[in-house]
Amino acid sequence: MRETVLKLWPEIEWIEDPELREQTLQTWIRAFEASPLTPDDLLEIPFTLLIPGCKVSFMSHKRVVVHIARNAALSMQEFFGADLPIDLDTVIAGAILADVGKLLEYEKAGGKARQSARGKSLRHPFTGVALALACGVPDRVCHIIAAHAGEGDLVQRSTEAFIVHHADFMAYEPFKRLGAK
Ligand SMILES: [Fe+2]
Repeated sequence: MRETVLKLWPEIEWIEDPELREQTLQTWIRAFEASPLTPDDLLEIPFTLLIPGCKVSFMSHKRVVVHIARNAALSMQEFFGADLPIDLDTVIAGAILADVGKLLEYEKAGGKARQSARGKSLRHPFTGVALALACGVPDRVCHIIAAHAGEGDLVQRSTEAFIVHHADFMAYEPFKRLGAK
């Protein structure tokens, strides 16, 4: 499973701190162990169930969010420097883990993914934090998982959480508009 997750998520290697890199990897392994979804499913199922007919895969969306978040953080570091401290490892690990809880939010029915009864009670920001805490992921990264989606509008987001939140939404909102046509 370790090799499978690293193949699915080459961006895990971007995390410089070896401890955080391992905790991030272990969280994904733990999620697959508890999920009805397989790594292959993530290459096929749409990234959101909220847009009918969406063809973009779960992994394509998740990976682009990590790339956008990292590039945005690097640009902000370049222009703002010490005026806006940003921890790049936190951004990358948070973006990689933001949707890990979806592995516990979804179930498969008739070959398609749908929200499970557990998913209705506990959306992925909550199950994602539970998985990550169990793997020793630090609070600053769990904060990003907790606050990346709409639920996070109710909390004071960290700089790193703002970056991941906007990266996630800029890769999601345009599709919502396409779906509304
Ligand atoms: Fe999400």
